[in-house]
Amino acid sequence: MDFNEKYEAYLLEFNAVLKSFCNSLNCRPEILRDSLRYSLELGGKRIRPVLCLATADLLGVERRKVLNFALAIELIHTYSLIHDDLPEMDNDDFRRGKPSNHKVFGVGNAVLAGDGLLNTAYSVLFKECKNGAEYISAAEFVCDCAGIYGMIAGQSADLLHENDRSLNELTLNFIYENKTGKLLTAPVVVPAILSGGRCYSELKSFGKDLGELFQLTDDILDVEGEFSSLGKSIGKDKEEGKYTSVALYGLGGAKLRADVLAERCQAILEGIDGDREFLKDLVDFIRTRKN
Ligand code: IPE
Ligand code: IPE
Ligand code: MG
Ligand code: MG
Ligand code: MG
Repeated sequence: MDFNEKYEAYLLEFNAVLKSFCNSLNCRPEILRDSLRYSLELGGKRIRPVLCLATADLLGVERRKVLNFALAIELIHTYSLIHDDLPEMDNDDFRRGKPSNHKVFGVGNAVLAGDGLLNTAYSVLFKECKNGAEYISAAEFVCDCAGIYGMIAGQSADLLHENDRSLNELTLNFIYENKTGKLLTAPVVVPAILSGGRCYSELKSFGKDLGELFQLTDDILDVEGEFSSLGKSIGKDKEEGKYTSVALYGLGGAKLRADVLAERCQAILEGIDGDREFLKDLVDFIRTRKN
């Protein structure tokens, strides 16, 4: 199977889990359920679940063991996007090619949709904890990545430094590592924990570097991308005075930095035994992505 076929196969497997999760949602009132399903079912690349399944394969962890973790991480990611788009955050009208959640359901309902996804993710994780100590550690890891020492901290710093003209690498790294890096580290570290700790520190470093690479390409696409493939507005970072790699290094500098990060990711994978081919291709895909 080539890279695209393998990606599709992982996607198919994960989307079946997500579909059955969406179909089982029966919360009331109807607008609550509809607003959750709206953002989840719009699609997106599902890169975090794909990473999780692929890392499980690399480490020889049965996929069924990680599927609910992949689900919880995608729920948390989708909640982060709904809140990220709110007028008082990034004020984005489009997401995944369609109007943002708050444009369809209003700001109040979008806040609740995000809260609902986060709470439900934790409920999914709690259920996994019944399977044993390693599952508890994995769930704790995901919570820490999502929380005030993770994605929330990055989003807070991202807001704090809007229109900050004194750009420096330390601040940018803090924002990147947390707002994006942590939710890309969780899907590769969960399988490591469930394998009894195999390649834990290598995969943790890999997730951090991949997160930085992912945000670098996100910033680059905000300048050079196209709405038709990206599904979100272009030029927003500049408009909102965001603290980005493009603002700090310039477009060329950001691309060079992305190349360095992609190399670092590849080097970490080289040091891990097993079939790393798909993950290596995934790094290249992230470096050259258009969506
Ligand atoms: C967008 O994430 C937010 C960032 C962390 C840059 P993705 O690019 O993974 O968004 P979807 O899930 O594919 O829509
Ligand atoms: C978002 O970063 C990271 C999140 C935690 C959602 P961005 O604000 O750059 O993501 P986009 O460009 O809106 O997808
Ligand atoms: Mg943002
Ligand atoms: Mg944004
Ligand atoms: Mg962006």
